[in-house]
Amino acid sequence: MKPSFITLDGIDGAGKSTNLAVIRSWFERRGLPVLFTREPGGTPVGEALREILLNPATKAGLRTETLMMFAARQQHIEDVIRPALADGVHVVSDRFTDATFAYQGGGRGVPLADIEVLEQWVQGGFRPDLTILLDVPLEVSMQRIGQTREKDRFEQEQAGFFTRVREVYLQRAAAAPQRYAVVDGNRPLKAVRDGIEKVLDGYFGFVQD
Ligand code: TMP
Repeated sequence: MKPSFITLDGIDGAGKSTNLAVIRSWFERRGLPVLFTREPGGTPVGEALREILLNPATKAGLRTETLMMFAARQQHIEDVIRPALADGVHVVSDRFTDATFAYQGGGRGVPLADIEVLEQWVQGGFRPDLTILLDVPLEVSMQRIGQTREKDRFEQEQAGFFTRVREVYLQRAAAAPQRYAVVDGNRPLKAVRDGIEKVLDGYFGFVQD
């Protein structure tokens, strides 16, 4: 089986953390080798950039922010993602380039065409094989972020920002349905979990238990 690069994405408060655990136990159950990683982050350089990017005290312009996301990504692909795939290990990344299109593009207003240029420069033709997009309505996202004690630089943004972020995610998923699986995160946990397991079973060609 060719190793796959799978990403999980969605607006803040969509329930990524809970569902990463679902994905983790699915891989364990199926006995498939897998590496879990995240963006921004995944390498020492990436984690250092993450600190800067999420720190509410950081003043970074929108282009600087976009370049830092891609700087972290470049190192991540080179040092972690490609080597793991070359070793026959599946890789699951908590966020990837879709987040840059959604947050820096949709949220901040960086032209999507500019992000495409950087994507091409950093990744060439490298894209996730499967992207699971956890989708929740804005009110759910805002309510869940509201319960976070210390909000990071992105979580401090307002409803309009997250509305645009969500729109870009959904547009991207609609434009390439063969790569994206949109999972409705606004349901009881068990239903969301079943939804994710169904996507993974379908993608890897397992018959559901
Ligand atoms: P989280 O994934 O732990 O929620 O935090 C990462 C934050 O960084 C999240 O608010 C989304 C944001 N982000 C971007 O704005 N652009 C990106 O390219 C990535 C990977 C994340």
